Amino acid sequence: MNELAGKRFVLGLSGGIACYKAAELCRALLKEGASVQVVMTEAAEHFITPVTMQALSNRPVYGSQWDAREPNNMPHINLSREADAIVVAPASADFMAKLIHGRADDLLSLMCLARPIDAVPLIVAPAMNREMWANPATQRNVAQLRADDVHVLDVGQGDQACGETGDGRMLEADEILDDLIAFFAPKRLAGQHVLVTAGPTYEAIDPVRGITNLSSGKMGFAIARAAREAGAVVTLVAGPVSQPTPRGVTRINVKSARDMQAAVQRCVDDATVLVATAAVADWRPATQADQKIKKDGSGETPELRFIENPDILAMVAQSPRARAGALYCVGFAAESHDLLAHASAKRARKGVPLLVGNIGPATFGHDDNALLLVDAQGATELPRASKRELAIQLIAEIARRLPAAGTPQ
Ligand code: CTP
Repeated sequence: MNELAGKRFVLGLSGGIACYKAAELCRALLKEGASVQVVMTEAAEHFITPVTMQALSNRPVYGSQWDAREPNNMPHINLSREADAIVVAPASADFMAKLIHGRADDLLSLMCLARPIDAVPLIVAPAMNREMWANPATQRNVAQLRADDVHVLDVGQGDQACGETGDGRMLEADEILDDLIAFFAPKRLAGQHVLVTAGPTYEAIDPVRGITNLSSGKMGFAIARAAREAGAVVTLVAGPVSQPTPRGVTRINVKSARDMQAAVQRCVDDATVLVATAAVADWRPATQADQKIKKDGSGETPELRFIENPDILAMVAQSPRARAGALYCVGFAAESHDLLAHASAKRARKGVPLLVGNIGPATFGHDDNALLLVDAQGATELPRASKRELAIQLIAEIARRLPAAGTPQ
């Protein structure tokens, strides 16, 4: 999926050791279908050569405001007019200080100042030593940049090239890429708080054994990411899976169905949308041994008895807020056959406005899926595609169905 197809970026590099990450970012942007025009300050050229950036971007690099290659000798005008966004990565402390004053004594700062402010957003990825980042002057400048509608990305945390540890290093290239993709996503869920459950649950038999299922959590994590990109505050309650947490999403790890229920209960009062993708174990062992159950040599097998787990989705769907339309509940159904009939029946049984059906064996662990959306109006198919694409489509479908603020359902 070319997530930035056709997007034109000016990638500006100011001076900092994080310039090496800009090389990777340049490649990543091209891989997602974008074009990249690199502009470097003189300081940046001390850290990485224009040759590297030219080879990666497949375009000559610009560095000087006096560059005679442009017929009108105005690279600051020409290049900024052709861009969908200017991304300064790394943005040094000095470069940000220049931006807030509207200084324009090199091509990159000149271009930032000369850009059509409503048409060409400016996005900066700060990169500096932790003391420089924490300095009140820098924090003042960041606040001023935000007030000026500059999109300031977060900084990373951890080991720094100077040997110190703390906040201030530049985000990794893949993190910046995710933030840029999110930046361009339509903000269909602005103002919403989406609670997502994902993955399997694990029901312990004893301290070393348990029962679970093959859910990978991929669909739920993709939905959490798409909801965040659409502008929602997102909380993700995840069973035991090894998926990376989508950027900007608050993740709560749980194991059993009852842990998941407790986590959902803690967060659900703040939520306006619940998307229950988790494959919650329907039953758990009636008793859980404190110690590992040992073979005693008699050849007898232990007897397992089960009791039913709480139905988290049904519980939430019956809450007063859900019934009043203040919380929109979306359920999932993993079926093996007769998808429409089962999904429709499950929608009624769970009391949710939207039920998303999929074929279990064809989705668990896979990167793609096909969905059948069942609501009061009927059924809509989302044909087979990657879980990422389906998640974006599903978020648009959910946004379309949300009651307008203040209107009861
Ligand atoms: N769900 C839940 N809590 C449970 C069981 C299910 O929140 N204890 C949610 C799932 O996250 C999903 C939907 O309910 O959104 C699935 O419903 P469920 O009845 O569990 O589906 P199946 O297990 O597939 O049901 P059946 O055994 O009837 O096919």
